[in-house]
Amino acid sequence: MSTPIIIDCDPGHDDAIAILLALASPEVQVLGITTVGGNSDLENTTRNALTVLEVAERTDVPVAAGCDHPLVRPLQVADHVHGKSGMDGPRLDPPTTRPVDAHAVDFIAETIAASTEPVTLVPTGPLTNIALLLRHFPDVKENIGRLVLMGGAIGLGNRTPAAEFNIWADPEAASIVFESGLDVTMVGLDVTHQALMGREHGERLRPTGRCGAFVADLLDFFVQFHERVYGLDASPIHDAVAVADVIWPDLMEADRFHVAVETDSDLTLGRTVVDRWRVTGREPNARVGLAIDGREFGERVVERISRLP
Ligand code: BDR
Ligand code: CA
Repeated sequence: MSTPIIIDCDPGHDDAIAILLALASPEVQVLGITTVGGNSDLENTTRNALTVLEVAERTDVPVAAGCDHPLVRPLQVADHVHGKSGMDGPRLDPPTTRPVDAHAVDFIAETIAASTEPVTLVPTGPLTNIALLLRHFPDVKENIGRLVLMGGAIGLGNRTPAAEFNIWADPEAASIVFESGLDVTMVGLDVTHQALMGREHGERLRPTGRCGAFVADLLDFFVQFHERVYGLDASPIHDAVAVADVIWPDLMEADRFHVAVETDSDLTLGRTVVDRWRVTGREPNARVGLAIDGREFGERVVERISRLP
């Protein structure tokens, strides 16, 4: 059975690979892609989402643009990681398609309401659209199966020493999501930094088709940042791990813990405080990723993306 999903994203190199992985996988059916300001501004993330669908020849999948800034904070992009376009590396021809004529939040609400089966949400950017969805359309919760987000960390952050980018970018939205009562899975940096892909994966993908070559060009650019900052010769493909958890529930080891989001402190803003040793007595509100077989992840992603045009 194929799980209906909506990917809410800010492409983004790893968002793009996450989208392609989903499109290549019969275990999921992509009902739509929604975009948010994050890695780059909304105009760029929306254009990049359209481009990815064009490269994959899947322009039948609707794209809806959402919030261009976080709930209460200004937008702060990650162009030091993803470049000026938000997806530097491959040649980005202007897309010939356009987003649908609906705000992402309305689009997600309508799509969930119309689905005969519970929809799994896969947010891979700041959680602004999802928080607004829950605030404006609380009834949709009944038809949301799971929410598998990329964001946060039990341990170290990446945008600051304490916080991961997606949660740091809109901590108020993240807090709403963790407190929503939904079946939330947090795919954080503890796991995604074990799920690396590098130029070697890219070179195997390049001859397989247009999508393979596109991913190879994405990796060539993305790896440079991770070489500079972390001394790695490969990149964590953060967002694709969230999609992978929906496709292959056996791949990521996880357990349930309480997660709170810091929204006040300047020093630790956006930190996901994970009660790993259950010292608070608070009921778990999320399934949190702990470990993944990174080699297996890379192999499975290569195999799936090779199936695309
Ligand atoms: C997350 O931040 C973005 O830069 C990536 O696309 C990913 O969603 C990793 O911290
Ligand atoms: Ca992202």
